[in-house]
Amino acid sequence: MRLRRARQEVKMIKIAVLGYGTVGSGVVEVLNTNAKVIAKRAGQEVEVKYVLDLRDFPGDPVQSKLVHDYNIIAEDPEISIVVETMGGTKPAYEFVKRALLSGKSVCTSNKELVAAYGAELVHIAKSKTVNFLFEASVGGGIPIIRPLNQSLTADKIEQINGILNGTTNYILTKMAEDGSDFADVLKEAQELGYAEKDPTADVEGYDACRKIAILTSLAYGQQVDYQDIYTEGISKITAEDFKYAKAAGAAIKILGSSRKVGGRLYAMVAPQMIGKDNPLYSVNDVFNAICVTGNMLGDVMFYGRGAGKEATASAVVSDVVDAVKHMNVNVMTIWEDEKQQIAPLEEMENRFFVRVGESERAKAEAAFENLEVIDGGVPGEFGFITEKMTEKKFHDAIAEFDTFITRIRVGF
Ligand code: HSE
Repeated sequence: MRLRRARQEVKMIKIAVLGYGTVGSGVVEVLNTNAKVIAKRAGQEVEVKYVLDLRDFPGDPVQSKLVHDYNIIAEDPEISIVVETMGGTKPAYEFVKRALLSGKSVCTSNKELVAAYGAELVHIAKSKTVNFLFEASVGGGIPIIRPLNQSLTADKIEQINGILNGTTNYILTKMAEDGSDFADVLKEAQELGYAEKDPTADVEGYDACRKIAILTSLAYGQQVDYQDIYTEGISKITAEDFKYAKAAGAAIKILGSSRKVGGRLYAMVAPQMIGKDNPLYSVNDVFNAICVTGNMLGDVMFYGRGAGKEATASAVVSDVVDAVKHMNVNVMTIWEDEKQQIAPLEEMENRFFVRVGESERAKAEAAFENLEVIDGGVPGEFGFITEKMTEKKFHDAIAEFDTFITRIRVGF
């Protein structure tokens, strides 16, 4: 009897959760709700020994595990896995680095941390034979990091296109359905709790930018600095743009994209018109999806909930299970800190949907060869789609128009 208890005690992994916000509390909930199945899959029970937060949570069972001082966790040899769900880089970076250096694996949902310090933290984990895992940092609950690292290993990745932000996908879906303006839908999304009070990171594409930087770094095994990626948000998309999109049989989505063309890597975050044959066309509401194109595999798409407490926590806990299964073994992630150069945007080739004043119709027809006219039914305007051309050529040509209204890249 004593022997059996001793054996059971050995079969228990103790972890700490940093941050008891939406994702952190979700992690504790998932571990409690699915304790049995998680223990079976991990081969050991997983116990949350500490939760770090500045706040107290009286009445919540987590209160008995709550600590306010990270030193208690960092210096406890019983803790072999640290879950980081604080967000931001300060103090998350210092905490995570210290955990890895002291031989603890780290599982994080923090895309700011991973985008900024991923290469360094992957390297430290390798040198200490522990793991730095970040499945939840991109696409919330969608498995995409592990597939990129462990499944899509036979292919050269040619292209990644992703709807990587739930808030903006919700807003664009509503604008398409209701014919409403951006500002009205944003306000409604904030009232429903789908958009933050300060929505800048989502609507201006900064969140998606970090996510495509992480995916592109993993796809090519080298550091892609998110600051190098051209990023354009959705705040200038209007109800009129959707009238044209409908007429063209297209959806407007904000995509994080990277593609290799002739050995050059292009990357950007921007709204795009995509047609029905694009697998991302029907990805609506808060859902995310990532379409990866391999040179042997062709297209493969990953779809699911890109945000939300349970979905994101599920991905974090899947990393905890992975870390338990790979104690004292580093699950190799190739992410060198040597910088991957992004080719200048002006050399990237795209097609463009353009709106100018009706008065410059003839000028547009002369300036852009083989343009495709789109009748959005908006009085006083001329809408069209250009042929594929470099961003620079387009920019130079459109600068000559006095009545230029807007342009959206076309992904079909
Ligand atoms: N604000 C993000 C989104 C949360 O809307 O997708 C997940 O990173």
